[in-house]
Amino acid sequence: MAEPTSTHPSSGAPEHESLPAQEAAPIQEPPTVQQSSHGEGLIAIETDSSYSEDDLSTYTASLTSSVLNYHHENGRRYHAFRQGTYVFPNDEPEQDRMDMQHEMYMRACDGRLHLAPLTDTKHKRMLDIGTGTGIWCVEMGDSYPDAEIFGNDFSPVQPSWVPKNVRFEVDDVESPWAHPEKFDYIHSRFMAGAIADWPALVERCYENLNPGGIVEFQDGDFVTYSEDGSSKGSWLEKWNIDFANAAKTGGRIVQPGPQLEDWVRAAGFEDVHHEKVRLPLGLWPKDKKMKEVGAFNLVQLKEGLEGFSMALFTRILGWSPDEVRILLSKVSKDLSDKNIHAQNDLHIVWGRKPLTA
Ligand SMILES: C[S@@+](CC[C@H](N)C(=O)[O-])C[C@H]1O[C@@H](n2cnc3c(N)ncnc32)[C@H](O)[C@@H]1O
Repeated sequence: MAEPTSTHPSSGAPEHESLPAQEAAPIQEPPTVQQSSHGEGLIAIETDSSYSEDDLSTYTASLTSSVLNYHHENGRRYHAFRQGTYVFPNDEPEQDRMDMQHEMYMRACDGRLHLAPLTDTKHKRMLDIGTGTGIWCVEMGDSYPDAEIFGNDFSPVQPSWVPKNVRFEVDDVESPWAHPEKFDYIHSRFMAGAIADWPALVERCYENLNPGGIVEFQDGDFVTYSEDGSSKGSWLEKWNIDFANAAKTGGRIVQPGPQLEDWVRAAGFEDVHHEKVRLPLGLWPKDKKMKEVGAFNLVQLKEGLEGFSMALFTRILGWSPDEVRILLSKVSKDLSDKNIHAQNDLHIVWGRKPLTA
């Protein structure tokens, strides 16, 4: 593998308006885990504790073990519900990385949690699919105290003490959704590598929105590039290729962003917007804001490398864990190389379900 060469790229990002500051909603009691009406597909993490511990103990014991009986492999912890479907871990290092990624996103988007135009009066029921640590829902709960915000995920790793208008559920967004009521806004962020059938997911969002409801996807490309060619031939580039191929063999894509707009249009959404935001990797941009985004992006990728790669490279490519770690140490070194001016793109696509639908 050739060592990288270098020159000097430039960078910049679109300007965004800031959201008006809003009052924080109060926090609520810690939750109990409880199953909703439709069987194993959706497990609500309830905040209403009207049943006694005894009433629920037998019931919740089996439920909790079905979602909390995490799988451990090569030093990492993975989800229990629909085990094996999602190849990134759910352990504390990965949760810290997700929160770091959120910080990167917030800086890149000038503090805007969404780019679609939302109002408390119109967008009462909101859903965040694959919510991760739930940080987006918690901040939305504070910003929209009159909305009801649901976040779902394979893993119940979200915090208990959250704004009272926020609820988390264990669910698989690639199975039919069981919510009896439709939503006014559906949000999906950083699901690259997670989804087997993107067009079907976008169609499911359409079906589960009220007329006039909005879907918004915010997804970063795992594939990096450099405008000056400085990442050509690097270990970072080799990792990108192997990683994308392993994911593809496993039935996932690591760069859904460029196709999102087409899928959103094909599902029937109108008034579709697509914004591409550049995310530098490292401290190389001259611009202060982009340097900060680059710092967060670099740290989250370095922290995430092992989690992203371990299951894919060992299960699908047949590498040993040590072979994976050796490659990743070289990738990590490249990421710290000031002469490599790598970046990736964040795609934000939103569209509206027709009022007449
Ligand atoms: C990279 S994380 C993104 C988390 C969050 N959206 C954010 O932006 O911080 C992807 C999350 O999607 C969840 N996930 C993956 N496939 C899923 C599925 N089919 N149904 C529900 N959650 C899923 C994972 O458990 C993980 O928490």
